[in-house]
This record gives sequence, C-alpha cells and structure tokens, in this order.
Amino acid sequence: MRARTLLATAVMMAAFGALARQPVDTGHGGAVATISHHASLAAMEILNAGGNAIDAAVAAAATLGVTDPFSCGIGGGGFMLIYSAKDRRVIAVDHREVAPASFHPGVFLNADGSAMDWKAAVPNGLSVGVPGTVRGWHEALTRYGTMGFEQVLAPAIRVAEEGFEVGPNFHRINTANEAKFARFSTASALYLQDSKALPVGSLHRNPELAQTYRDIARGGVKAFYEGPIAASMVAAVNHPPANPGVEVIPGSLTMADLKDYEARLRQPVRSSYRGYEILGMPTPSSGGIAIAQALNIMESFDLSGKSRAEIEHLYLEASRLAFADRNAYVADEAFTDVPFEGLLSKDYARERARLISATAAPGKVEQGDPYAFQNDLSVPLRPTPRPLAQESMHTTHLAVSDREGNIVAYTFTIEDWGGSGIVVPGRGFLLNNELTDFDFSAPHPNVPEAFKRPRSSMSPTIVLKDGAPAFTIGSPGGSTIITTALQTIVNHIDLGMSLADALAAPRMSQRNGDTTLVETLLPFPGSEQARALEAMGHQWRETEQIGAANGIRFNADGTVTAVSEPLRHGGGSAIVQKH
Ligand code: GLY
Repeated sequence: MRARTLLATAVMMAAFGALARQPVDTGHGGAVATISHHASLAAMEILNAGGNAIDAAVAAAATLGVTDPFSCGIGGGGFMLIYSAKDRRVIAVDHREVAPASFHPGVFLNADGSAMDWKAAVPNGLSVGVPGTVRGWHEALTRYGTMGFEQVLAPAIRVAEEGFEVGPNFHRINTANEAKFARFSTASALYLQDSKALPVGSLHRNPELAQTYRDIARGGVKAFYEGPIAASMVAAVNHPPANPGVEVIPGSLTMADLKDYEARLRQPVRSSYRGYEILGMPTPSSGGIAIAQALNIMESFDLSGKSRAEIEHLYLEASRLAFADRNAYVADEAFTDVPFEGLLSKDYARERARLISATAAPGKVEQGDPYAFQNDLSVPLRPTPRPLAQESMHTTHLAVSDREGNIVAYTFTIEDWGGSGIVVPGRGFLLNNELTDFDFSAPHPNVPEAFKRPRSSMSPTIVLKDGAPAFTIGSPGGSTIITTALQTIVNHIDLGMSLADALAAPRMSQRNGDTTLVETLLPFPGSEQARALEAMGHQWRETEQIGAANGIRFNADGTVTAVSEPLRHGGGSAIVQKH
C-alpha cells in the first residue's frame, strides 16, 4: 500500500513537474492570489481600472464561479473578511446560506429516526440552503467598494461568454462528479459529454451564466432574490430537474425565503499570538474560534530550543483539543449560547494545554469546560461528545489587497464539489448542498432549524503586527480549512518559514481523530519529518491533497508578496500590480 502510494506520488510529482514553480509575486501595488489565473486577471483588471480590493475580490469571485464552478458560485454562500485601511478595522461579512422556513430538526432523519447517510443526502433539493453570495457581494460593494455590479461582473461575463480551456484539475473534479451530474438533466447538459466529464483541452462556455450575471449587473441584488431568477431557483429546489428514473428528494423553498435573505456584518474573532493580532471569522463559522483557541494553547509553551518535530507535535495536539470543543459547542450564535469568552480565554487554554504530553494522545479527547471561564456562568449546557460530522473537502479562498492598504480575505463555496448537483434551468449555476453542514441528529447545537445557518469551518484570517497588516491566509477544505490556516500560521510565525514556504509545506490535519490526515501529493509519507512525528506516536491517514490556500504577506519594506499553491488544485495564481 505504502509502495503504491509512493509510486503514485512520484508519478504525480513528475506530471506536475512542469507546473510546480510556486506562484509568488512581490511589488508595491495591489495584489491578488486565487486558485484560477482567469480570476486573478479579473481582479487585476479591476485594480488597474481604479477599483479597490473589495471591487477586485468580487470580480475574482465571480470569475471563479465560471472557471471553478464545482467549488463556488452564486448558488452558494461564504464569509468575507475586509480590512478597511481608512477605518483601520476589520469587518466580517457573513453571507452563509440559511435554512428555509420549512426546516426543522427532523429533516435529515430516516423514517426509523436514524440519521440519513450524508452522501445520500447531498444530491437533492432538500440539501439546498438559501444562497447568500450575491447579497454578500452587494453588501461588500455598497459599503466598502467603489464600483457596482456592472463593472465588477464584466470580466466574469467575458470568460463565461468566450469560454476557457478545460484543464486537468477541472476535469478531475468533473470526473468525480459524473454520477451526481447524471442525476439532473441541466447538470448533464452543462458538465457531461456522452455521460462523461468534459475532456481536457475542450473549450467550455457558459452563456446562461453570462446572462444571469448580466441580469444581476442590470437589476442589482433584487434581480437575484426576487423575480424570474428567484422563481427558477425555487422551482429547481422544489421540483428538481431529475433525469428519467432518478429519485430526488425535493426541498421546500419559497420566494419569501429568498427575498428575506440577509447578509450579516459581524465583529471578527480577535485574539493574540506571540505579539501578533489574529482576526478571524465568527459564528456561524467555527474557524475563527478554533484557530484562536489552538494558538492560545500553543502559546502556553515556550518554543525556544524546540525542534521542528516538537513544534509540529504541539500544533497537532493543540488542534486536537480545539476541535474537541469546536465539535461540542460551536454553532450559529443566533440559535445557541456559544461560550465565546471561555473558549477564547488564555487561562482556559493553559488548562487545556496541560493535557498535552510528549507523545500524541492515543485517540479522541473529551471537550473541556469553557463555562468555568465565562464571566456569565448561567449557561450550564454540557453536550455529549460527538464525532466530527462529515464535511466536504471543497470550497475556494482568495486574497486581494490594494494600494490604499485595504485587504479582502474571502472564502466561499457551494459545499461539496458540484454542490447539490442541481444546475438551475436556464441560469447556468449550481445550487449548494450547504444544509448538509448541519449535524443530522438532535440534540446538538448545530441541529437543523428554520432560518439557521449551518456551522462552517471557513477561516479567512487577517493577521496584524503592531497595528498594521502582517499577512492574510485562508483555504478551502471543509473542516481541514481550520488546520490548513492554523498550520500555515504556525509554519510562518513559529517555524520561521516565508509565507510561500509555509503555504507550500506538506499539510497535516488533526481534528480530534485517532489518526492525522496527511497528503500523498507531496513527499510527506515516509519522510524524515513523518518519522520524527511517528516517534512521538502520531499515526497517519492519507488523502491526495489538503486545501488550496492563498495569502498575501505585507513586508516591512512596504512591498507586498502574493502567494498561491504550486501543486494543489492544479496550482494557483498570484499577481502584484505593476506601475
Ligand atoms: N462547507 C464547508 C464549510 O462551510 O466549512
């Protein structure tokens, strides 16, 4: 098994060899890092036309909806973290999908009361949450941008209209989704040829999505949430366009669910780590809290004189402890009393840190008691421990900054690769399956409820030093998003790697499991680094790749460095504006 894995890795490394140069660019202008060159070019076009980072981020995101439609798009939702240079503050724009009015804790239960199989629940109208992306873009542009939809959607409309060449990564994900897309006539027509994924090298155009973007450009946010586009989403969810003989569970979505959808402006989670200020995403994402908590646990240790393996051991164990609490306590704060103060307390972190020994915990750890560290002790909830619910490894993240110093860290998604698999008839975009991010059986803080936002792991993060931006990072990858952002921060701050090296390094994801997930795409299994950690009791479970991060470093000399992936997700794109 190991020999086969190593051979597969060697073959992949050779195949990717020509592309393996890491996208890194440094300069004095605005910067962008995304997983798609088309999307980075769209952001640059807007920056060069005088737009700011918020305008450019929406342009890049809309283009990713064309070139990376299986990971993200207007049929989904996300979390945007904005650093406003003139206000010197960070704002979180939560445009997570919301459950429709018809939802209740029993929606994902079988007739006998057992939880539905997660994979079986995904490709249905039932899994579709009210999309938040267009509302989020609208809020970001009107409050912090300088341009309107007409300008920022123009590059994406062009790419959708003219088309782009299908690459190996698009094809890989398309292939993985053949069965899902075969369920729906609209998805089969857009993403399959003779029941197979679109071939590498073919030109893929999406004129229906171009027209939907044009409708939004002309009619604004209302054109999406009211009127014909909204009506076609309601019809697609309640009467999915299933191919003959395919059984699909419909949802129950109304025009009012769409019209009433709101993005929420939230305070970021704010914490400190070894002299840095870490700003992350609050609930309904668990990302900001889990990263802050894990870093607080790590801060309990003096790292001077510690080897790389010893520091990585602490990272893995701190992540394990943070995930035990994340799984037990964090959900949409509008529905659950999340013990924020306790979870973010340095004293609580020191207590949790005492559980870490010189060797890996033999398996899952119990959640702690953050309530003892709340000033308000009136919330005596003691949930039973739960295993990590299933979450997909998909989504996308982008980073943009501009000459004025504004920064956008933006993660958005349609949840699983290909979302629910339902392409809205005549509109050219896939609907999400975000509601499968709820825990299926009660009692649990993250149980399905009407108007609730399912818990997320998305972790757009902005890091300040002495009050000024130091770097920003984020990634896709379901619950591995948290560990990717966390490990990159540890690599950069504690192991002293450049942000580019921190991002490219092999990833290890410990989420309170018996084993730690590692990648076969990079030469980690069998390496000296792996053996050093194995000697401390760490055991591995392998997956091909973890995450696809993007980041920007704000350097002491006034330059910025945009960094993206050399290999993962086919490699990304990083560009700094030239004068
Ligand atoms: N669906 C992935 C996340 O929200 O974290």
